[in-house]
Amino acid sequence: MPLVEAIDLAKFFIVKEGGPFSRRKRVIRAVDGVSFKVDKGEIFGLLGPNGAGKTTTIKMLVTLLIPDRGDAYINGYSVLKEPHKVRENIGVTLSVERGFYWKLTGRENLLYFAGLYHIPKKIAEERIDYLLELVDLKNAADRLVETYSLGMKARLAFARALLNDAPVVFLDEPTLGLDPRSARSIRKAILELKRENKAVVLTTHHMYEAEMLCDKIALISRGEIVAMGGLDELKSLLKRKRVIEVEVSKFIGDLLRELESYDFIEKVAVSSLEAEKQKFRITLKEGDSRAVREVLEVFYEYGVGIDYVRIVEPSLEDVFISLTGRAFEDEMDRI
Ligand SMILES: Nc1ncnc2c1ncn2[C@@H]1O[C@H](COP(=O)(O)OP(=O)(O)O)[C@@H](O)[C@H]1O
Ligand SMILES: [Mg+2]
Repeated sequence: MPLVEAIDLAKFFIVKEGGPFSRRKRVIRAVDGVSFKVDKGEIFGLLGPNGAGKTTTIKMLVTLLIPDRGDAYINGYSVLKEPHKVRENIGVTLSVERGFYWKLTGRENLLYFAGLYHIPKKIAEERIDYLLELVDLKNAADRLVETYSLGMKARLAFARALLNDAPVVFLDEPTLGLDPRSARSIRKAILELKRENKAVVLTTHHMYEAEMLCDKIALISRGEIVAMGGLDELKSLLKRKRVIEVEVSKFIGDLLRELESYDFIEKVAVSSLEAEKQKFRITLKEGDSRAVREVLEVFYEYGVGIDYVRIVEPSLEDVFISLTGRAFEDEMDRI
């Protein structure tokens, strides 16, 4: 039996449009038909841009939102029918919710929350020692939380999610906005959870983070999973397609249109690095070995100076673009 099984989850939000007295309403399809399974010892990543429906999915799985359709089973318990049982089987960190007692130390906070979970003191103390070590807070454990940085509070929240030693852990954008050191120690701790044989569901909009941590990744876009599998499986969707990265120091609109008109080119995405520099990512269709040279010739024809060229293996971003026709908004703007 999988530890997490989401079956056709859906959530719609109805929002008013056009000011407080308007009757116009709009339905936002936040999540629409999300299904997946996670086994023990597996890290499952929901990867998608902002607004894709990641947090809404997590909230349904942890019983903070009631699905409009579908159900999910956590360690065999239904989120619809047995929410209390579900809560006993999960540890959660949501990026918004950090609520600690600022006038207590990190360790005292964890002891307090362990009390709420009715964990016997002796067991709690041992577990807390282990967790403080795990999140790299051992040296700061006896300092007041009010002296903690944002990253330290996030690490403490991560430790708190593991206090009850639940078999399933949900982490919503666990490294969002953190300093590199905190992000690193959280990533390390997440990998450690595999060894504890937990099932981990995490959301992220960092492709790099998903690649590094996840055994299985679901690409989510506009409320739907557009592809799912191991990293290699996802990349094999684009296996024989090459991507050419070209960095130029001058940009001409006509050049982009010209590139897009070639039939051996599948997709062109452009990001502006700074005012003067642009990076093109050009995904070629399968098979055509002349294509790389022809692409470069277009740049030469337009008299655009090339700073560097790189032929790259498809990334998760390319898989995402190829499946949705859209780039991750915050990573790269599609023109
Ligand atoms: N409480 C809400 N009311 C109305 N719309 C919401 C609410 N929560 C989320 N949404 C909308 O649902 C979509 C998915 O949001 P969310 O699950 O937070 O995405 P993500 O976590 O992937 O960034 C977005 O369009 C968002 O604006
Ligand atoms: Mg979110």
